[in-house]
Amino acid sequence: MANRIVLNPVSYHGTGAVAEIGNELVSRGYKRAFIASGRHVVKSGEIKKITDVLDAKGIAYTFYTDIKPNPTIENVQNGVKAFQEFDADCIVAVGGGSVMDTSKAIGIIINNPEFADVRSLEGVAPTKKHAVFTIAVPTTAGTAAEVTINYVITDVEKKRKFVCVDVNDIPEVAVVDPEMMYSMPKPLTAATGMDALTHAIEGYITKGHCAISECPSPASATAPSAVPWRFPTLTA
Ligand SMILES: NC(=O)c1ccc[n+]([C@@H]2O[C@H](COP(=O)([O-])OP(=O)(O)OC[C@H]3O[C@@H](n4cnc5c(N)ncnc54)[C@H](O)[C@@H]3O)[C@@H](O)[C@H]2O)c1
Repeated sequence: MANRIVLNPVSYHGTGAVAEIGNELVSRGYKRAFIASGRHVVKSGEIKKITDVLDAKGIAYTFYTDIKPNPTIENVQNGVKAFQEFDADCIVAVGGGSVMDTSKAIGIIINNPEFADVRSLEGVAPTKKHAVFTIAVPTTAGTAAEVTINYVITDVEKKRKFVCVDVNDIPEVAVVDPEMMYSMPKPLTAATGMDALTHAIEGYITKGHCAISECPSPASATAPSAVPWRFPTLTA
């Protein structure tokens, strides 16, 4: 059995990583950034670290903050309109899972307009083109939406959330800068920290674990000589 692993082509990790955003856009010739973000993040001032970088590189930008937690179809469709009105050529998603998921849907629809109703993206939709070039900057610790090929949208009318899975939506660049998370209030830090921890535990103990989870692969786990799965021994 082969394990499929989909990763961002480029990712930055560490304090001050947002400084790289300007170079990533300029080196590819992008000039008009659509900054998707949450009102809390914009209000907190953290966003200035990014707009300063864009200003220094002469990149024009607009903000789109009409994004609710557990984003809706309407949030996506309004975002598509705002992206087109600004004539943007790239997306910088600065927020938690809600912002990054909305950005993925917007980027997919801009380049695959036959899915403009959003609902038709549920599951594994047959999109043909990769989403608009996107740099994703998480401001919470929980979802890892900057590195996944999933996004989750709420259908308010039908009172349900639906998951979209599409390799065409993975952001080309992930920028994981811990300073962008400092403004989280304590309960959000705790909740999204627990989200990250449970993701890690699940990745470790699931039957679908693979080499990247640092567990024996499913193949070796069934081999006669394989060491059965166990928690690692903790040493002091
Ligand atoms: N794409 C994926 O792989 C994936 C995985 C898990 C969950 N999700 C989805 O992600 C969403 C949840 O994302 P989340 O837990 O990151 O929360 P969120 O993005 O919904 O944010 C929660 C609240 O915190 C605020 N906030 C975010 N960062 C902040 C900061 N640094 N300072 C102050 N306020 C801040 C937001 O504005 C919002 O009001 C759900 O819609 C869920 O379905 C997606």
